[in-house]
Amino acid sequence: MRLLVTGGAGYIGSHTVVELLEGGHDVVVVDDLSNSSEVALDRVAGLTGRRPEFRRVDLVDNDVLASVFDDGPYDCVLHFAGLKAVGESVEQPLRYFRTNLIGTLNLLTEMDRAGCRDLIFSSSATVYGAPQALPLIETHPTGGTTSPYGRTKHMIEEICYDVAATGAGWRIALLRYFNPVGAHLSGRIGEDPKGIPNNLVPYVLQVAVGRRPHVDVFGNDYPTSDGTGVRDYLHVVDLAKGHLAAMENIDRFEGARAVNLGTGSGNSVLDVINGFAEASGRRIAYEFADRRPGDVPELYADPSLAAELLGWKAERGLAEICADGWAWQSANPNGYASD
Ligand code: UFG
Repeated sequence: MRLLVTGGAGYIGSHTVVELLEGGHDVVVVDDLSNSSEVALDRVAGLTGRRPEFRRVDLVDNDVLASVFDDGPYDCVLHFAGLKAVGESVEQPLRYFRTNLIGTLNLLTEMDRAGCRDLIFSSSATVYGAPQALPLIETHPTGGTTSPYGRTKHMIEEICYDVAATGAGWRIALLRYFNPVGAHLSGRIGEDPKGIPNNLVPYVLQVAVGRRPHVDVFGNDYPTSDGTGVRDYLHVVDLAKGHLAAMENIDRFEGARAVNLGTGSGNSVLDVINGFAEASGRRIAYEFADRRPGDVPELYADPSLAAELLGWKAERGLAEICADGWAWQSANPNGYASD
């Protein structure tokens, strides 16, 4: 198949492109490189022996996007491109709405024009808001999101349902990711956040490698096993394989349908810090700090729909996440800038 991958140079996108190329597909990547690096695509080419076609495109620029579709056809679109930092979205809501919503509206419009109506979208567990019950199941109410970023994910889901309801033959997989972490088993590609990492795992890795002095643990008085926040950490290679499974089973997404991609079990912040300390053989200094506004105590998926619909389940646990994450960070202490 010939596939269009938006945001394909980014963290989850690049790992998915590896799986798609290894699966024998032809891949065209569009990415504006605002939070990613073309070096990731060089590394992907090194790993797979195949170079994805690349075009630097901002999806908000509809004319350029239209020209990408003029060079089609594409059998399916995987849409990763978007801004994703929760805190930044509170500071810059207009930028988030503009990039995520207009980018997606342009993409859907061009897909419709081209008659390509199979889409895999990077949604997020953030659409559930504060969980009313755990594990989170797809029928849990959505929309109680606490940030502009989260609202863009929820709004895009709603837009997709409306577009799918036209009966034009859309098949849209709304993949609700839990916490993607870790790196490719080769250590050649991984997460390379620009600036200070917002998320726990890249922060811990930068402490392990000596780029930052300590991790702040946001809250140690939650009603969890050790008082720190619990999340469902999913190895990025498992997540990438989930996209392949969704594509192979796209006929099961007639209209639009949401599916959780998570492991089904949670780990605390201290579990994660200890896991990386063990994998790296280094002490990872941490300090307890106030709770981070908007955080919930505990979040983990019910992944049974993904197993039933896609035959997919996560195969890697925290030990592999830490080993592979450390292999990436220690070989690339400054991310892709190490090249
Ligand atoms: N945490 C710390 N210190 C840090 C960073 C995080 O203690 O420096 C804690 C958080 O309080 C939380 C856990 O580590 O308990 C995980 O935090 P992350 O920022 O890594 O991830 P979140 O669960 O907050 O957010 C992730 C994605 C979002 C997505 C959300 C969906 O980053 O994009 O999951 O639930 F919306």
